[in-house]
Amino acid sequence: MTKSTHDRLLIIDFGSQVTQLIARRLRELNVYCEVHPFQNVTEKFIINFEPKAIIFSGGPASVIDKDSPRPPKAAFDFGVPILGICYGQQVMMEMLGGKVERGHGTAEFGRAYVTSSAQNLDLIENWFENDREQVWMSHGDHVSQIAPGFEVYGTSPNAPFAIIADTDRRFYAVQFHPEVHHTPSGAKLYENFVRVAGFSGDWTMGAYREQAIDTIRKEVGDKKVICGLSGGVDSSVTAVLVHEAIGDQLTCVFVDHGLLRKNEASEVVRMFRENYHMPLINAQEEELFLGALEGQSDPETKRKIIGGLFIDVFQKYADQIEGAEFLAQGTLYPDVIESVSFSGGPSVTIKSHHNVGGLPGKMGLKLVEPLRDLFKDEVRALGHELGLPDSFIGRHPFPGPGLAIRCPGEITRQKLDILREADAVFIDQIQRYRLYDDIWQAFVVILPVRTVGVMGDGRTYDFACVLRAVTSVDGMTADYYPFSHEFLGETATRIINEVQGINRVTYDITSKPPGTIEWE
Ligand code: XMP
Repeated sequence: MTKSTHDRLLIIDFGSQVTQLIARRLRELNVYCEVHPFQNVTEKFIINFEPKAIIFSGGPASVIDKDSPRPPKAAFDFGVPILGICYGQQVMMEMLGGKVERGHGTAEFGRAYVTSSAQNLDLIENWFENDREQVWMSHGDHVSQIAPGFEVYGTSPNAPFAIIADTDRRFYAVQFHPEVHHTPSGAKLYENFVRVAGFSGDWTMGAYREQAIDTIRKEVGDKKVICGLSGGVDSSVTAVLVHEAIGDQLTCVFVDHGLLRKNEASEVVRMFRENYHMPLINAQEEELFLGALEGQSDPETKRKIIGGLFIDVFQKYADQIEGAEFLAQGTLYPDVIESVSFSGGPSVTIKSHHNVGGLPGKMGLKLVEPLRDLFKDEVRALGHELGLPDSFIGRHPFPGPGLAIRCPGEITRQKLDILREADAVFIDQIQRYRLYDDIWQAFVVILPVRTVGVMGDGRTYDFACVLRAVTSVDGMTADYYPFSHEFLGETATRIINEVQGINRVTYDITSKPPGTIEWE
């Protein structure tokens, strides 16, 4: 995508765990910002970026150490406001003539209270309640002498320079983390900062939609685009946006691998064909996928088979669309943020994830990624803006490998049919109790276990199933949902009465970690 024409804020990332949260807080204020690792930010980079303000993030390094990360010196010469946070404060002091010391006995981790000095400062206007505000600290080193031109506006017991500023140059620095939840009024501080910097708050979804459509038209010209549609929020919003930009130059491919939920394929296809009159290939590939999965019970093997076939099938249909030069993908901003990692080394593969956003570049198609500037909740807001029904925008995530990973052990058509029915009853119950929007994801898992039961006067020997429902913010961690006993009892009764093939229902109360959300 070409450069955003909105007011732009540059966040220089020094590797804090919570840098992304700074971006979240700013986006909530309708401010366009980008996170870039410090290694990439040169003087030339800043000139090209044309920031209206700059933020230095926190980070795990110590400015006292040789070769610790620095922003380019020129960052201080552009005349734009700068906010330094934690490490960002220390690096700012170090570079402008202050001093930083190792924290012998003065390290602070966790909750602390900052007290305001008597003087006014625009950054903290209307911020302090009772002259004291709770903040979150996480620092070993501390500033021991502030740079010339700076004054102190807030202190905490272990951070005498908790809030400092050089108001002439509009340089601000705080020792704590205003972006985290545990600094309850932190958002106000960002609001003040962007006001001081003169941001107009022009980053709205309406504006984004216009700009994205314009960019897609310029990128694509009169060429054709294909899009893998899963029915999930990201691919749906991508498809609708691209269709709005270039109409029937777009063809979507929906792959039915036989591992979808009850009525899912027909609902997705109807919604896109009827509401949006979009050219859509409904690829019926159940035989291919279920055939290849026959006899397979290892989770990773199952995932790899599905991922590989998905690419083959997509390629087959893409080849049929003459003149297709572009692939539209629902890549999101968290996928493209190249955050600084100090942990080093590749992380352990827990599961081989697959989704329609992961189609390989080697397909020889150029990418159109109109959501790559957006966070998930912004994608939902854009979906609203584009008129997608709430029922679609609020859907729970559904994994690319579908029901295959909710059917531990060997997958059979019989088990899939039973699972689909049980899942539909569970979701219906959740909707009846109006819990759907409080839950991140809910589904049924069918176990490769038969148990003995008694129904009427007869013995049954049927499958056991598990209900799984979790709350989560981003799928990285999760808690089981605290259903009432009434809900659980009623749901178990309904499943056993309405679904032939299940005679026992259990509820999974494992959080993530140590569990994962899906069972495979
Ligand atoms: P886990 O099971 O790893 O899942 O705790 C976290 C989130 O990711 C979803 N998930 C997937 N999504 N392709 C996807 O598009 C996949 O292969 C995949 N595996 C898991 C899962 O449903 C949950 O929301």
